[in-house]
Amino acid sequence: MTSGGRLTQRVALVTVGGGEIGGAICRRFAAEGAEVAIADLDPAKSEAVARAIAGGGRALALEVDVADEASAKDVVERTVARFGRLTTLVNVAANVTPDGTVENLTLEDWNDALSVNLTGAFLMCKYAVPEIRKAGGGTIINIASQLGQIGVAGRAPYTTSKAALIQFTKCLAADNAADGIRANTLSPGGVDTARILRRFDSREAANRARGPAYLLGRPGRADEIAAGALFLASDESSFMTGADLLLDGGYLAFKGTIDKPV
Ligand SMILES: NC(=O)c1ccc[n+]([C@@H]2O[C@H](COP(=O)([O-])OP(=O)(O)OC[C@H]3O[C@@H](n4cnc5c(N)ncnc54)[C@H](O)[C@@H]3O)[C@@H](O)[C@H]2O)c1
Repeated sequence: MTSGGRLTQRVALVTVGGGEIGGAICRRFAAEGAEVAIADLDPAKSEAVARAIAGGGRALALEVDVADEASAKDVVERTVARFGRLTTLVNVAANVTPDGTVENLTLEDWNDALSVNLTGAFLMCKYAVPEIRKAGGGTIINIASQLGQIGVAGRAPYTTSKAALIQFTKCLAADNAADGIRANTLSPGGVDTARILRRFDSREAANRARGPAYLLGRPGRADEIAAGALFLASDESSFMTGADLLLDGGYLAFKGTIDKPV
């Protein structure tokens, strides 16, 4: 179903397209006229989102491990084989590693975060950029985090990977601007997704506890993040590249009362 048509003629590839934030992005992009390749570690999740998009007509369900170079290359190739081109890449994949400090985190914890959150985005871009250039230009959106801009006790691997992703994206923008490829990060604040159950007993409890940390009194919703991704993917952001779009409900704007940022 095409309502606004802000992404007609676009072909988007979204990692973690089967997840809550990635799925919301895929559905919003499809509703705006894009053809969407939905790539997820779990192919059943990709297929469920593909089915929800116009019966799967303009959607392609794929399986990807973004930390694996062959897999990243494969999903780019399959997207182009199916839709004829690639104009838009959204890197959503993230590995949320255990909390800890340098003394008790393992090298594996550290590498797990960087290999997906940073190297995974690098690998996806490595194979997507030449295709986006062939298509005459397009956009890359790397999902970072508001925590990529601040120090957070016990969260070095995740927050460092997100800070590095923001820096990587600035370089990506610089390297490819002349070819009409814009690259930006989108940094959500806390979003009401199942991931929060790692830290709280229920989503309701998480929203209650986290609310005071946000000027708007609540964490965000996946559809609000998808709205930001739509802006970055469409021509409405045509003068924006190498930048970070912060959608954090005012989290970074003041010192909240919460004692464990999430
Ligand atoms: N939910 C939040 O509060 C929040 C806040 C800020 C930023 N973010 C970012 O938004 C994005 C989506 O987060 P989310 O909360 O929807 O869910 P999430 O944390 O569940 O999403 C991360 C997904 O990445 C997938 N993944 C892990 N390793 C992978 C690999 N090697 N290849 C492919 N996929 C892999 C996981 O299966 C998981 O579904 C992430 O980048 C996250 O860091 C989320």
